[in-house]
Amino acid sequence: APEELDARIRAAKAALGDRVVMLGHHYQRVEVVEHADYIGDSFMLAQAAQNHPEAEAIVFCGVHFMAETADLLSKPEQSVILPNLAAGCSMADMASIDQVEDCWEQLAEVFGTEADADGRVPVIPVTYMNSSAAIKGFCGRNGGIVCTSSNAEVVLEWAFERGQRVLFFPDQHLGRNTAVNMGIGLDEMPLWNPARPMGNNDEQTLREARVILWQGFCSVHKRFTPAQIDKARTEHPDVRVIVHPECPRETVEAADEAGSTAYITKAIEQATEPTTFAIGTEINLVQRLAAEHPQHEIFCLDPVICPCSTMYRIHPGYIAWVLESLIDGQVVNQISVDAEVAEPARVSLERMLAAKP
Ligand code: 13P
Ligand code: SF4
Repeated sequence: APEELDARIRAAKAALGDRVVMLGHHYQRVEVVEHADYIGDSFMLAQAAQNHPEAEAIVFCGVHFMAETADLLSKPEQSVILPNLAAGCSMADMASIDQVEDCWEQLAEVFGTEADADGRVPVIPVTYMNSSAAIKGFCGRNGGIVCTSSNAEVVLEWAFERGQRVLFFPDQHLGRNTAVNMGIGLDEMPLWNPARPMGNNDEQTLREARVILWQGFCSVHKRFTPAQIDKARTEHPDVRVIVHPECPRETVEAADEAGSTAYITKAIEQATEPTTFAIGTEINLVQRLAAEHPQHEIFCLDPVICPCSTMYRIHPGYIAWVLESLIDGQVVNQISVDAEVAEPARVSLERMLAAKP
């Protein structure tokens, strides 16, 4: 029963005290985040993992790539636990290390590997945080960098100082929306389909590219459409529409603003007048924002309640189990990145943390 699980989690957390820190992503359900010591986006939670060296275990209520990042940034003696190992991310799974290595070889055949007169290499790889540690390691080994939805533009500027063009993966939408904001034309952003030779492009198209966009997407954010925005505007003429940059280009264009989880949260917190907000992001976050800000009317653009199905795999039952196992001296469901991947992956994360506007 839910009350019973709730009581078991509370009792286990009390028994463990500072030995454990529990992190909850914004997209987790209420029954999970109510037990979290920190609630945040993937970037904030990575920092929280780094800032708790005293805890012997970090229980990460989020998805696999986030737990890997926590492992990369925490102390070697700490263990990072993902309550359900099946909590992956379909977007992260759209770029495997083999596909990325294969793409990289094909691009080297087109562009070579020599820097130009300004010292800029032919291609800089940029990966969204939502990718495996192996992909972050690839970026670390090949002069590349990680970005999040809150710093994508700063990171692309970093990349263009060092490279003539960018290979951006796995999310085509974040890549496209960010590059458009920087004045790059849609015709300078070919898609790379990893299932086809040359990503399904001819050599001329690639030569004219400024950003090569990997053909990945988030199954939650791609559901938001301009038609939903039209409907919200008809029903609420003063509505303020904010969508996440993982949404398709046409949806971002139809919205008033686009921004990361952190941006959306801040925009609502800073609104001084009662406001109607239509939000294009994951439902658990939207519902929590609505509950926390009763002075505003806040609703999700998508009428079909559709949570991120992999985030949803973190069930309170698994949390009770991993905590009680810790009390019994057992670390279950540990996420541990191999040393040969971890070292270059940290390089690409550190480049991101050091990149300044
Ligand atoms: P952030 O947590 O970085 O906002 O990313 C959004 C997302 O889709 C997480 O899976
Ligand atoms: Fe992945 Fe999208 Fe779910 Fe985030 S919301 S974990 S990007 S599928």
